Amino acid sequence: MKTLSLFFASLFLCSFIVAQHSKRTDIDSKVNALIKQMTLDEKIAQMTQPDYNAIRNTGSDIVKYSFGSILWGGDSEVKDITPQGWSDVYDSLQRLSQKTRLKIPILFGIDAVHGHNNVDGAVIFPHNVGLGATRNPQLVEQVALVTGKEIKATGIHWTFAPCVAVARNERWGRTYESYGEDPELVAQLGVAYVKGIQGASLSDQNSVLACVKHFIGDGGTVNGDDQGETTLDEASLRRLHLPGYVEAMKAGAKSIMVSFNSWNGNKMHGHKYLLTNVLKGELKFDGFLVSDWAAIDQLSGDYKDNIQQSINAGLDLIMIPNGPGQQNSYIDFMRLLKELVKEKKVEMSRIDDAVRRIVKVKFEMGLFENPFVARSRAATVGSQENRSVAREAVRQSLVLLKNEKNALPLSKNAKSILVAGKSADDIGVQCGGWTIIWQGKKGNILSGGTTILQGVKNTVSKETTVKYSVDGSGADSGDVAIVVVGEEPYAEMFGDRDDLTLSSDDHAMVERLKAKGIPVIVVLLSGRPMIVNSTLDKSNAFIAAWLPGTEGQGIADVLFGDYAPTGKLPHSWPKNMQQIPINIGDKNYDPLFPYGYGLTYAADKAMN
Ligand code: GLC
Repeated sequence: MKTLSLFFASLFLCSFIVAQHSKRTDIDSKVNALIKQMTLDEKIAQMTQPDYNAIRNTGSDIVKYSFGSILWGGDSEVKDITPQGWSDVYDSLQRLSQKTRLKIPILFGIDAVHGHNNVDGAVIFPHNVGLGATRNPQLVEQVALVTGKEIKATGIHWTFAPCVAVARNERWGRTYESYGEDPELVAQLGVAYVKGIQGASLSDQNSVLACVKHFIGDGGTVNGDDQGETTLDEASLRRLHLPGYVEAMKAGAKSIMVSFNSWNGNKMHGHKYLLTNVLKGELKFDGFLVSDWAAIDQLSGDYKDNIQQSINAGLDLIMIPNGPGQQNSYIDFMRLLKELVKEKKVEMSRIDDAVRRIVKVKFEMGLFENPFVARSRAATVGSQENRSVAREAVRQSLVLLKNEKNALPLSKNAKSILVAGKSADDIGVQCGGWTIIWQGKKGNILSGGTTILQGVKNTVSKETTVKYSVDGSGADSGDVAIVVVGEEPYAEMFGDRDDLTLSSDDHAMVERLKAKGIPVIVVLLSGRPMIVNSTLDKSNAFIAAWLPGTEGQGIADVLFGDYAPTGKLPHSWPKNMQQIPINIGDKNYDPLFPYGYGLTYAADKAMN
């Protein structure tokens, strides 16, 4: 019997391998047949990725040129940002691609980096720094799966995520986009995200193409300067910043975004050794490389030189924010690249290699067969089922740094609770950057979700009085105070800081309440560790909540003991700015809290 089942198992395996092989050769023959038909203009257009803002009024250019891809950059969005509104625009643009000579579908990319964060009503998940604190790859895979479903529900099928930056200096404004300071944790969660967002096959109905970014060394720049200089020997660069890419490629990632930063003085967008010799050669990356936002413009020559250098370095698809009449427009790019080919400064073989990589992924995604969105899917965006995954991620992201005399968990039957702080009732602050707009924004910026204040109100008993004040005023004896402090939204270089000390207003609020003898529970909303020593001393309990997203209810779940905190620090927590950069493994390592630190509740205190 055993032999028979072994026989059928091996028969199944062989037939699976044969089927996969024949699918690959079938796609290869389709790619070859298509490339044979393409003119040079059509090939160059496939390597061109205009931003939506550049073509929104020139839709005719889509039919005229047949662009390979269109992106919605940080501040580029449709007029009606409901799921329906996004689906309408997606469909209308993709229909234009079917009016081109070869009907090659357009690849649409967007920064859905913590949920489908440009869409009103979408579920916004904790930013990656919070996911790093969960140490839970299965949860991160689930987060990615739900994110993919919400992206695909609007037709879009490519997200510029996961960011596998290894953030080594918390001055960096993009620290929160990284899973943490340890390459192994970053690789583990980056892989989980790729598996979740792409699914078992790129042609699955929920599958969204991942884009692993930013290659390479974005989190390792001097002083944490965004788009700065990463000075490392090659062995250290590979040890610290390469694992996320190697593991993500093994997990099936088919697009990688090249980084703005330099390595030892050379810009990544012109780095042939790392992009072609290492990534495509040594590591056999068979997907495509996409540039960052107008990043080739930062190379040292004029636009034509920069196009020549970046394409010959190994870039395949070029992100171009500017349209007709603007400098370095997508028209300029296509014209100049054609000149370079005619002048043999860019070989036709390089063009064909780039086009092959891009078109092959489109075939693997099933885009030629199913370019349009099932319009009914828009209604699934922001569902309670999806929100429950985000709420779980919030719970598991919280890191308890202090809990004096078991101040936490709080009683749901407390007589009176004061919730304080301008960010305690602010969904925009909870979400942080890359939410509706590039930089994010304070206030009620999108529908759905719960603020921390709303979460507290939803949790306590009817007998409990919940008071709210933006500055901590209105506290009476007998109260317990939940004080929300921290950073306001920012993205990229706008978040670079030389001083990460908590604001004096935030500290004063905690101090005032403490002076009144009110027990203070501090909840820190930030994209990174901050300098909080004196505030920590004044607090009875202190939770790092990072940038939790829309599901603030998850914070109340832990504050009131329905769940115990399990989060672990994804960064070493510094005592002062002079210690930064401080990372696990450093000599004389002496942080305020070490990498991996995190308390939980006494055994008899939490329900789950
Ligand atoms: C930005 C970021 C990158 C993002 C891209 C498109 O400048 O560096 O992470 O995916 O542009 O918005």
